[in-house]
Amino acid sequence: MRRPMIAGNWKMNTDLASGTELAKGLASHVAGKDSSVDVLVCPPFPYLQAIKEAVGDSGISVGAQNCYFEESGAFTGEVSVDMLQDIGCDWVILGHSERRHVLGECDGTINKKTKAAIAKNLGVVLCVGELLEERESDKTGEVLDTQMKGGLADVSEADLSKIIIAYEPVWAIGTGKTASPEQADQAHAHLRNWLSSNYSQAAAEAMRILYGGSVKPSNAEELLGQPNVDGALVGGASLTVDNFGPIIDAG
Ligand code: G3H
Repeated sequence: MRRPMIAGNWKMNTDLASGTELAKGLASHVAGKDSSVDVLVCPPFPYLQAIKEAVGDSGISVGAQNCYFEESGAFTGEVSVDMLQDIGCDWVILGHSERRHVLGECDGTINKKTKAAIAKNLGVVLCVGELLEERESDKTGEVLDTQMKGGLADVSEADLSKIIIAYEPVWAIGTGKTASPEQADQAHAHLRNWLSSNYSQAAAEAMRILYGGSVKPSNAEELLGQPNVDGALVGGASLTVDNFGPIIDAG
């Protein structure tokens, strides 16, 4: 059985006061409930430490939205894996579509970051997903294969245990258009097949694959009920306890 994860990607939102309040609210929300779901929040870099303190011993993990692959040195504006671990981060999101398509990150860079993170046992949420035009021209499978091959180049089967895949169709991110449960499950099954062909059946079965793209309380249960969907990576709806709480509960 794969343990579900519900992850919140706060993107470039919140401030110190509102982020701290949100984290405390989520800690209260999960308090006393059985922890059959992993909960992760990924605030902006400047607030990581405060949010780590705010979630306290609630069991909620804290992750970053990016990192750099070099250990230290003259890399102005970058943040290393060691720095993230130093302040208690357990996870980092890599290859998010906004980094790929707004900030020009390519599979090669994402792969270097992935390897740097797993080398130090920092968990990676590796995002993949196709553009609308790619889906409309039946290229979804091809795009996912390329992103998996590129992102996971030279990653051993043993190291896959430190990685979670997030399938995020770009056309569903922040648009209000959610992939149908069948579309999500089909893409996740495709990713699992890729893992089976390129690693092993056991690796494919063990991998947690999250869905991301306009997940909200009203659609979470159905999406999370699909056999190949092991959780959600939530953007907009992770910014309030009223929305993220019920998504956690659906996990
Ligand atoms: O990382 C999260 C995804 O980009 C989904 O964002 O839930 O606002 O569509 P969204």
